[in-house]
Amino acid sequence: MIFTHDIDVLTGEFRRKRELSRSHPPARPAHHEGWSPSSWRRFPAKQLPVYPDADALQCYEHQLQQSPPLVLAAEIRHCQQQLAQVAEGRAFLLQGGDCAESFADCQSTSVRDHVLTMEQMAALIHQATGLPVLKIGRIAGQFAKPRSQPEETVGEITLPSFRGEIINDREFSANGRTADPQRMVRAYHHSASTLNLLRALDKSMFSFYTAQQQESLHTGVTEQYYRMLRAQLEDSYHRVSNKLPRQPLFTSHEALLLNYEEALTRRDIAHGGWYNCSAHMLWLGERTGDLDFAHVEYLRGIANPVGIKCGPGMTGEKLLALITRLDPQGTPGKIVLIARMGLDQIHAKLPALLQAVKASGHPVVWVIDPMHGNTRTAGSGQKTRTFTTIVEEMQVFTTLLHRYGIHPGGVHVEMTGLEVTECTGGLQQISEQDLSHRYYSACDPRLNRTQALELAYLLGKSWQNTD
Ligand code: PEP
Ligand code: CO
Repeated sequence: MIFTHDIDVLTGEFRRKRELSRSHPPARPAHHEGWSPSSWRRFPAKQLPVYPDADALQCYEHQLQQSPPLVLAAEIRHCQQQLAQVAEGRAFLLQGGDCAESFADCQSTSVRDHVLTMEQMAALIHQATGLPVLKIGRIAGQFAKPRSQPEETVGEITLPSFRGEIINDREFSANGRTADPQRMVRAYHHSASTLNLLRALDKSMFSFYTAQQQESLHTGVTEQYYRMLRAQLEDSYHRVSNKLPRQPLFTSHEALLLNYEEALTRRDIAHGGWYNCSAHMLWLGERTGDLDFAHVEYLRGIANPVGIKCGPGMTGEKLLALITRLDPQGTPGKIVLIARMGLDQIHAKLPALLQAVKASGHPVVWVIDPMHGNTRTAGSGQKTRTFTTIVEEMQVFTTLLHRYGIHPGGVHVEMTGLEVTECTGGLQQISEQDLSHRYYSACDPRLNRTQALELAYLLGKSWQNTD
């Protein structure tokens, strides 16, 4: 009898559970079938390091899984709502920061100067376009790099390439170039301290801005340009601060090191859905965008906004397949298409993509990355980019999108708030000979502070001309 009673109770309990689950939203939407934070492991993957010590890897992954999220699901939803405004043509996206952050660079001054520069760029863009500017940094987690060559040879010695400080070291030694999983935990802590400063600066930005703007603009800028830019900034900042609520700086990085991304993925118990809590926005890089591969598999399951880099090899068909895989429901602001064709290819390659996506009706954001298609090697062997080429690709993008009746939603740049000498040209007329003076980038050449402000100023000008 007791046995039967137990069975009855158990059966009743079971039924109640099923009824409950029916009246609640399903744990996983139908299009997430088969997905879990670790399902990418069943797919072929490109650009992932081979860790020699599998036990150590598991141990550090576990440590990260137990760590607090860096950003919250509610903030991620807020970021996406802002991106939805961009998709509708009512806002502009400024995304910028290092090609590769380095642990040593996460100091207060470089973070502060980055924030200040982004803020001033946003003010210039706002003044010219009249649109609110959403700022997303390539910051607080941009530590992993895809590489075209898996190995690097110096003299007689060949070693694995540097893949970003979350994976290995820049130092050209066997030890330095070995993938070390403990670096994931270091990257997490560096991201946390950068975010801490970003949040503090966000709160105190008004007084911070006015105190800094006078002297910081002087560095390396001609007197005439200084006067012009300062007048613009004073005027635009006055307008921004009076009319718009201050927006936080959101964070983003390439979703490349999937072990790290998986470990920072959390389920939002209150609202449902999985969020990557290491950044507000993530993007799919040019080298890892194959449809049935691991990176796309991971990104299809998270609720964060996702960028897709679109290089010259992208076709309309492939892009639509990616968009549908990553956002089958057509959520406004979920997908950010980042064109990175290069000035010599954008005319030939971008229109087909613009037309295909427009015809699909998917509510995407289109932005231009005028950096990655325009990298060249200087006489010294250093990687560089020419300022006029960068600006020209950005202007072609704006013109083309206006021509197709699409909102040119933003710009994605590699930049720093420091006066480095990594890209040639601009008002400081940086020459190839100057590159060695302050070339600090851990990977690709960045716009320096003056070039970044000038780019924002010229972006505004070209917008006004084509509007
Ligand atoms: C990057 O954004 O640093 C990068 C590597 O870009 P892409 O994937 O477009 O080459
Ligand atoms: Co880069």
